Amino acid sequence: MAAGDVDIHPISRSPPSSEPKVARKLNPYSGGYTENRARGGPRAFFHALGISKEDQKKPQVGVVSVAWTGNPCNVHLAGLGETVIKSIQNKDMNAFAAHTVGVSDNLVQLTDMMSYSLPSRDLIADSMEMAICASQYDAGVLIPGCDKNMPAALMAAARYNRPTIIVYGGASYPGQIKEDCPALGYKAGDDINIGTTWESWGGVLKNRITDANYEDILEHACPGAGSCGGLFTANSMATVIEVIGMSLPYSSCTPAISPEKEAECTRIGGVLRNLMEQDIKPLDIMTKQAFVNAITVTNILGGSTNVVLHLLAVARSAGVDLKIEEFQTIASRTPFLGNLSPSGKYTMSDLHKVGGVPAVIKYLLDNTSLLDGSCMTITGKTLAENVAHVPELDFATQDVIRPLHNPVKATGHLSILKGNIAPDGCVAKITGKEGLRFEGTAMVFENEALVLDAVGDGTIVPGTVVVITYRGPVGAPGMPEQLTATAALYGAGLSKVTALITDGRFSGATTGFCIGHVCPEAARGGPIGAVRTGDKIIIDAVNMTIDVVISDDLMASRMGEWKERPLKHTRGVLFRYARDVKDASHGAYTD
Ligand code: FES
Repeated sequence: MAAGDVDIHPISRSPPSSEPKVARKLNPYSGGYTENRARGGPRAFFHALGISKEDQKKPQVGVVSVAWTGNPCNVHLAGLGETVIKSIQNKDMNAFAAHTVGVSDNLVQLTDMMSYSLPSRDLIADSMEMAICASQYDAGVLIPGCDKNMPAALMAAARYNRPTIIVYGGASYPGQIKEDCPALGYKAGDDINIGTTWESWGGVLKNRITDANYEDILEHACPGAGSCGGLFTANSMATVIEVIGMSLPYSSCTPAISPEKEAECTRIGGVLRNLMEQDIKPLDIMTKQAFVNAITVTNILGGSTNVVLHLLAVARSAGVDLKIEEFQTIASRTPFLGNLSPSGKYTMSDLHKVGGVPAVIKYLLDNTSLLDGSCMTITGKTLAENVAHVPELDFATQDVIRPLHNPVKATGHLSILKGNIAPDGCVAKITGKEGLRFEGTAMVFENEALVLDAVGDGTIVPGTVVVITYRGPVGAPGMPEQLTATAALYGAGLSKVTALITDGRFSGATTGFCIGHVCPEAARGGPIGAVRTGDKIIIDAVNMTIDVVISDDLMASRMGEWKERPLKHTRGVLFRYARDVKDASHGAYTD
């Protein structure tokens, strides 16, 4: 590599071998890109932007947000970005805003457009990488706000590996239902959230709730800007980012619309300057032990199954060796303490009120050996140093987090099951509330909408195992979430007496006996495609198995009948995604 060239794919953990020394002399805090920007054309453009010759020698920071006014999770991100830019300028650096595309999972539920959701993770990561690398920025601030935004920011930071801070847009506050809704067990004034709206839809399908209750829920579930408020995927991944050390303490649970979120943004310039001076890069922070810490806290709190998928992909971007089986190893030694929606009662803003993720980290560091407090973070301090002086969880006054001696469940809720339906693994969220074993009769669908029809006409009965196939990364494509199916089962009063298995995904808002990410997927010849309506299925969350009870000969015979289907798309982003994507047990990544 010639002097002045930039390594734009720094998967290797070793520092670049030929950093531009002249540029470092010009500005010791620059990542080395000043020299590349000091030629004729770029300098003219910076003058066009109103940046003087002297100011052009300052470090340049890319502030890349998933700002988008069509989604409450993203609507406020441009504003947060402006505050971040001012804080960077106040620390004598240049800052430039860029934006990426975004997809709202909630807006695409139950449509074929859900196929765009997971691919958007990789597209956002690609955009962030491109925004920072192509403009030769010395550092980055990434501002995500919705499900796929979050892992994308980690993936991008790992790939370009320049000093970076991730600022989470923050969760919305919960809404409050105005009237009693006995069918769903709500009283007037109870907190509700986006998950409630899909459950109420299931209630409508079965005529269990009134139109007035339904409208009441839709009108009040989402009171303003911010991501979906429970411990769903965006908040689970925000927690992961904070525990890994790539965001400031409290970033994950500070509400979107709060003075504290604004204050977090005003701190970014100083924290980033320190990161640059110390030359602490994402791969110094995103170590294997940091991933283990993040998986541990996900199990402590009860986070989304999507964390498994996303962390496998992030690990790939970071060059960290992480295997799906390690999620089970960590879950088996980690108690489940969170009383957070969807499996529990509270939202992220409630967690914030009782001390947030820092208080949880401190509790675990002080009382267990589950976390490694020596991991470096973006503050330039270790995880343990960050929380050394934060207030402790007060178990006398709060029940958002339960004490270690009285867990929700003695082991973590994320389970990796294997069996003749999923020889390469699948992911279940077993909170204990749905039981540890389910035995039932398969009813096979290839489409979530058909499940809703079957819920509506009463075809799905207690004891049914709903099997939704061809919903994987290649088959659907894009591994769509099956939230409306699970929420409809819940709303119809069937969630405790049925189970659902799919090679697609689940929303972080899903509750009930649900198993997703089945590998290999049906579209790749996986045995889930050989399950037939009427087959007996046994799910055993003690022995971590998932099997269809048929003979090996019958399974082999059915598998022999399988024929590969052509890809659903022949051009565009969904074609490229289905062509390139790896299986879910490796994170469904494309790079
Ligand atoms: Fe954005 Fe739920 S749709 S977090």
